[in-house]
Amino acid sequence: QQTQSFVGKKVMMTSGPTHESIDPVRFIGNHSTGKMGKAIALELANRGAEVEFISGPAAHAPHHPLIRVTKVTSAEEMFEAAKAYFETSDIGIFTAAVADYKPETMVTSKLKKKERALQITLVPNPDIASQLGAMKKKHQFTVGFALETDEEQVNARKKLESKNLDVIVLNSLNHEGAGFAHDTNKVSIFDRHNKEQHFELKSKVEVAKDLVDFIEQSLNG
Ligand code: C5P
Repeated sequence: QQTQSFVGKKVMMTSGPTHESIDPVRFIGNHSTGKMGKAIALELANRGAEVEFISGPAAHAPHHPLIRVTKVTSAEEMFEAAKAYFETSDIGIFTAAVADYKPETMVTSKLKKKERALQITLVPNPDIASQLGAMKKKHQFTVGFALETDEEQVNARKKLESKNLDVIVLNSLNHEGAGFAHDTNKVSIFDRHNKEQHFELKSKVEVAKDLVDFIEQSLNG
């Protein structure tokens, strides 16, 4: 029997990749599958939370009576949906691998192949976690993810500050079996009060339990 420690809490989550259209048949995307987001959503719902799950075009979506899935394609669409749901949420969790850039213009007919280089100008997408972090009210709590290659912990802590997050989960890239598409992940979790926990490589379902325990302790502390 699970504890029902999140009853009455509303959670907004982003998950999966985003696809940024180049033309009607092509896009810029990434390898995110949404597995980590799905595991976190189910763990929260099993503890009684009501979850608004905003998913990019990912292979994995959670099914649970307390989870409502909204499907989006681009970062702009994800941002609009996240903003709308975050207003009435207690917690925001940003697991999505949002594309940092999008093509400046979406061509309406299919680009023809030519025997010369093709240039596509990319412009930055909104940073959803940062923008919602800036709007965050006192009672709201946000959690983000970081994937770093060097000075992992320093950069994760910087991100915690710059995105005005309460908690950040650092994915270790220096470990086989962690990250995109794997069923396992190896994380460290940090908050703004110098609390940190370092975990072993484990299944994403177990990582979700550790993260939700961490959030629960932070909310109660
Ligand atoms: O800056 P970076 O992409 O490393 O930050 C990762 C964190 O920020 C993740 O929690 C991710 O979901 C979130 N993010 C976002 N919107 C973006 C880029 C990242 O919400 N455009």
